[in-house]
Amino acid sequence: MAIATNNKQADQRTIEQRVEYLLGQMTLAEKVGQMNQVESGGDHAIDHLRHAIQAGHIGSVLNQVDVEIVNELQRVAIDESRLGIPLLVGRDVIHGFKTVMPIPLGQAASWDPDLVRDCARVAAREAARTGVNWTFAPMIDITRDPRWGRIAESLGEDAYLASELGSAMVEGFQGDDLGSIGSIVACAKHFVGYGEVESGRDYATTNIPENELRNVHLRPFKAAIDAGVHTLMTSFSDLDGVPATGNGFLLRQVLREEWGFDGFVVSDWDSVRQLAIHGLTENDAASALAAVTAGVDMEMAGGAYIHHLPRLVQEGLVDEAMIDEMVANILRVKIRLGLFENPYTNPSELPAVGNEHALDTAMQAALRSVVLLKNDHHALPLSAERLTSVAVIGPMADAPYEQLGTWVFDGDTQLSVTPLQAIRDIIGSNVDIRYVRAMETSRSRRNDAFDAAAEIAGDSDVAILFLGEESILSGEAHSRADINLPGDQAELVRRVRAAGKPVVAVIMAGRPLTLSNIIDQVDAILFAWHPGTMGGPAIADLLFGIESPSAKLPVTFPRMVGQIPIYYSQKNTGKPPSPDTIIHIDDIDPKASQTSHGLTAFHLDAGYTPLFAFGHGLSYARFEYRHLSTSAAEIRHGDTLQVSAELTNTGKVPADEVAQLYVRDLVGNVTRPVKELKGYKRLRLDPGQTVVVEFELHTDDLAFYDRHMQLVTEPGEFHVWIGGSSETELRTAFCIVDSD
Ligand code: GLC
Repeated sequence: MAIATNNKQADQRTIEQRVEYLLGQMTLAEKVGQMNQVESGGDHAIDHLRHAIQAGHIGSVLNQVDVEIVNELQRVAIDESRLGIPLLVGRDVIHGFKTVMPIPLGQAASWDPDLVRDCARVAAREAARTGVNWTFAPMIDITRDPRWGRIAESLGEDAYLASELGSAMVEGFQGDDLGSIGSIVACAKHFVGYGEVESGRDYATTNIPENELRNVHLRPFKAAIDAGVHTLMTSFSDLDGVPATGNGFLLRQVLREEWGFDGFVVSDWDSVRQLAIHGLTENDAASALAAVTAGVDMEMAGGAYIHHLPRLVQEGLVDEAMIDEMVANILRVKIRLGLFENPYTNPSELPAVGNEHALDTAMQAALRSVVLLKNDHHALPLSAERLTSVAVIGPMADAPYEQLGTWVFDGDTQLSVTPLQAIRDIIGSNVDIRYVRAMETSRSRRNDAFDAAAEIAGDSDVAILFLGEESILSGEAHSRADINLPGDQAELVRRVRAAGKPVVAVIMAGRPLTLSNIIDQVDAILFAWHPGTMGGPAIADLLFGIESPSAKLPVTFPRMVGQIPIYYSQKNTGKPPSPDTIIHIDDIDPKASQTSHGLTAFHLDAGYTPLFAFGHGLSYARFEYRHLSTSAAEIRHGDTLQVSAELTNTGKVPADEVAQLYVRDLVGNVTRPVKELKGYKRLRLDPGQTVVVEFELHTDDLAFYDRHMQLVTEPGEFHVWIGGSSETELRTAFCIVDSD
């Protein structure tokens, strides 16, 4: 007899009363069962898991997306276990489900929280149709290292932007009402600091001073919790010698005591047992003890909790009261999700996957995520009216799976529209389109088709190269030490350039690439990340000027891999380089003195500036910023400052611009970044139109953790900028003065 009510009428007791009631009925084994998440993929999940579910030893399953199997797993839990507690059903719904949106790094380039929220909403409703009620997203690790494969899943290098967009994803997944059909529980991951893995090598060590942890890496997680996220996932990584999955400072002091988080924490895959591999513990039992003591409520795969926690409690090494608190966290989320009232999935209650709204959302997201990095001689947009022939060349022009990017277990490539297909749709009726793939994959070293590529380029009005990385070259465990275009792509570019016609490059990748070896051989570059299901039509619309590119980089592009980490919000150092520092190593006189070329923070062979800066992105329009002003020269604690500038579209086409607000705190009791993003607005301007872009800055917006780990806003001078990238020079100043 299932004790947990499964009536359709909403239970009138409060959530806490229901939690306490259930806990009071549970045996220790059943409590630990709620803390146990197991893999449930494949057609035989029922046979494999039935007995454990009947015994109350499983609280959650992951990776089952057959709705019939999911409903049967739920039925076993509800009708055949003693307490009838329904299951959480987890899946990595990272950037779409059947309809695939741009990778999160691409979505971040839209700087559009509403769009990001819509993408998550579509993904949630498509996943919910299969019984998934919990996604392991958003991934909000801050990273400045494009060698790291998981940068593809991230929202970029900036804590402010990642906080805003990560929160929007949480809202999209969880909806306005978590208990409504189509809403699924979100999971902010990976808590915390995973993006700082040494050399960008996945799973490697991280060492992050607490001040940097609080001022950068923790911020998006606090924002996600403020946005209502109900679960967090611990990181695999070792943080300052204590792996996140065994780190009580993170999971109890910061998350519970400081932030009052009342959802639950799940480990990453088998990361509890990995504590022994890290060398923090001797064996699985010790790992279970370390993780539960640190505050990991649920173990994902691994089985250390279910096998060892009961005995650890019976031996008095773990207090059952602590287990009760952790199980309460899990039950609280199940109740908030409405799982006891509505545990089963009826797919017909949700719209079909890949519907018009889903595809339109994917299209809008792709349109707003593609960054125009370079556009010499107005090579773009192409004029369909003036073209007679176009050469389409490269391994990414017609690759319906590759354009989806990483983490697309459930993506439907049948829905993909490739750039080649879209170009044919737009201009195929009156322009001769020649196509040579030239390379089987992005890593191919065979160049026997390069002659054919060069030939069609020479015979056409323009050559459009589709280059980049296949999907497999980014994502988890797919870091690269060399982030040039893979394979012989650079040679392909050289051969096509030699044909003597205009060359446009469209690059799809899961990370920033070092493009210095091709940048001068192409006239324009559209960087599309992995743009998802509708990447083709979006890229075609941008190529032919049906829409203007409007995306801005959420991450810095280094000139060469040796510059990493390189990011806009760096510290000034005591010996900052100056613009005239940029030299070329070949220009150095062999007899030059040791102090020649200045003693400052730069590389002899790379200077100190990136190839493309955070916030960079060109348009087919032209935007000018003028008359930056503040509402006051001095403000006091608690005041709000208005900052504004005039923005004019001096171009010939209507377009969106993402205006950005940056601040520098010139002096602090810890050194402060030379610039920090504090606001942005996406605005649509017609040719000739001028608007006043206005931002508000409250003194709390300028707070930072000082050397005593206190969140403070100090008096002193601040610089403030408004512009179209982090390289903007339109600057003014204001002061915060001590209150009288
Ligand atoms: C993976 C990832 C994590 C993911 C989980 C479940 O190893 O690190 O992000 O959610 O396992 O697939």
